[in-house]
Amino acid sequence: MNILVTGGAGYVGSHAARLLDRAGHEVWIYDNLSQGHREAALPGRLVEASLTDGEELRSVLRGRRIDAVMHFAANALVGESVLDPAKYYRNNVIGTLSLLEAMRDTEVHRIVFSSTTAVYGAPERIPIVEDEPKQPISPYGFTKLIMERVLEDYARAYGFGFAALRYFNAAGATPDGDLGEDHDPETHLVPLVLQTALGQREAITIFGEDYPTPDGTCIRDYVHVDDLADAHLKALGCLRSGEGIQLNLGTGRGHSVREIIESCRRVTGRPIPERSGERREGDPPKLVADASRAKSLLGWAPRYTQLDDIVATAWKWHESHPNGYASN
Ligand code: UFG
Repeated sequence: MNILVTGGAGYVGSHAARLLDRAGHEVWIYDNLSQGHREAALPGRLVEASLTDGEELRSVLRGRRIDAVMHFAANALVGESVLDPAKYYRNNVIGTLSLLEAMRDTEVHRIVFSSTTAVYGAPERIPIVEDEPKQPISPYGFTKLIMERVLEDYARAYGFGFAALRYFNAAGATPDGDLGEDHDPETHLVPLVLQTALGQREAITIFGEDYPTPDGTCIRDYVHVDDLADAHLKALGCLRSGEGIQLNLGTGRGHSVREIIESCRRVTGRPIPERSGERREGDPPKLVADASRAKSLLGWAPRYTQLDDIVATAWKWHESHPNGYASN
């Protein structure tokens, strides 16, 4: 298939684009490089443009005879979305609507959409199933929920076929160390802990040690980025006109912040100083996926089931790219 990957120069998007390319699809990357990296995009495949540029979108969708879109391009920081919600509504809602309108005009009706565990807010029942009430507690989570609802309406009215993939905590890198995680600023736990192991940071701050969890720190479900990419590839084969599916993507295993730091110490063999910090606003105590729907509908199961194996791929990337990608 001819596939347009928006945000294909970003973290999850670049891993998915590479997998699609290797699976024999014709892949085009659409990215404005506001967060993505030229080096992370498939060589010779980058269209550097904005989602709000409807004319450019239509021209690429038509000109490249695109069959389906994978839509990764978005802002995805919970804390930032609280401080600057306008940025999130503009990029995640207006940007995505612009994409959907261009798709409608060019009769491209298949889309795999990057959604998030943040659509659930702070759910009571763990592990989380897809039917759990959606009560986002951040503008970021709300923008993703809005777009899931819009997609449902587009499916019903215009025959779109979509999959909304709700990622838990993406982590890791390609095992060859070529692609990895490089955000500016970095706010995610695993890269921050590994940067501390490299001596680039003095210590990792633990955001809250008084949560109702066994060691008092927050629990998350860390899923390997290549496993997320694999789910996208599988979802592509399951898109049906007029229908949409929502799927949780996680390992079903939760790890606390302390367990992440311990895993990084084991994998790197380096001392990693830590210090106690305040809770970070908007952090739910525990988020763990029930991914059985993805298993039954897509035949998907994460290949990386051990935390240390996920961390080892991330470490390979950080050791070989201590300053991230050379390009922005
Ligand atoms: N944490 C620290 N210290 C740090 C950074 C993070 O203790 O310096 C903790 C956080 O409090 C949290 C855990 O590590 O408990 C993971 O934090 P991340 O920032 O790595 O990831 P989040 O869980 O905040 O974010 C993820 C996804 C988002 C999604 C969000 C939903 O990356 O896309 O879960 O809560 F929206």
